[in-house]
Amino acid sequence: MKTFKDKVAVVTGGNSGIGYATAKLLTAEGAKVIITGRRKEALEEAAKEIGAFPYLADQSKVQDIENLTNEVQSHFGQVDILFINAGITGDNTLIEEATEQNFDDVMNINLKGTYFTLSRFIPLLKEGASVILLSSNVASTNHPKSSVYQASKAAVNSIAKTAAAELAPRRIRVNSVSPGPTRTNVLDKSYDTITAQGIWNSLADRIPLKKIGTPEDVAQMVLYLSGETASFITGSDFVIDGGILL
Ligand SMILES: NC(=O)c1ccc[n+]([C@@H]2O[C@H](COP(=O)([O-])OP(=O)(O)OC[C@H]3O[C@@H](n4cnc5c(N)ncnc54)[C@H](OP(=O)(O)O)[C@@H]3O)[C@@H](O)[C@H]2O)c1
Repeated sequence: MKTFKDKVAVVTGGNSGIGYATAKLLTAEGAKVIITGRRKEALEEAAKEIGAFPYLADQSKVQDIENLTNEVQSHFGQVDILFINAGITGDNTLIEEATEQNFDDVMNINLKGTYFTLSRFIPLLKEGASVILLSSNVASTNHPKSSVYQASKAAVNSIAKTAAAELAPRRIRVNSVSPGPTRTNVLDKSYDTITAQGIWNSLADRIPLKKIGTPEDVAQMVLYLSGETASFITGSDFVIDGGILL
């Protein structure tokens, strides 16, 4: 018996990395999964590979989010699992070198996008639904040259807690998952291949378990939080980082 048979799940940013791995697991467990992303070709290819439903949407735009919710409502009705995962890291700069463009890009996707995706999906959530926000372990640490990204994820953790309190009367659980370094394409979007590889190597060195996480490591946690076995868990943050925060 598949655990998520006939459950409806929405995964934002489902065409690569953590979102893709999670959508794949949920689909394998019987869920009907809608994945979003901005790159049409990547989105359609990913949906075909895992048997999900693609929806082209820029999560930083409220109009796109509202179009998405309308589409999901008319085709699937209510939603059991909402995984708000779409995000970017942005530029690697000191605070004194900050640009308005990078601030807006990162905040518009990671903070505004997360907030309004949650906001507009709330009416569609089934009683007892599970919402998972993808944060980062850097939300509770401090590293130079990542101030905007870190602030955006700290805000995500705050939103998760408020939402958990607001939605508890409908038995809707809201949790955040905070990965440490996880091998995806995320760095390739901001750095050239050699720089990205250098960052992965130096990160692996600093991790007590001496490995970089995989998208599947994170997907398994999201799967757990999505299901009935996690029915007493809300307002919590789950760090998956090989012990970096020790
Ligand atoms: N990898 C790590 O080490 C790590 C660690 C901690 C947290 N995270 C977080 O994990 C999440 C997923 O990242 P990832 O590592 O899996 O990277 P990834 O492979 O680059 O995936 C990011 C996903 O988000 C989508 N996306 C980005 N901006 C979007 C937008 N405006 N609208 C819709 N979709 C958008 C991308 O699709 P399109 O490009 O097609 O839009 C893609 O599917 C992010 O929130 C990231 O901050 C990652």
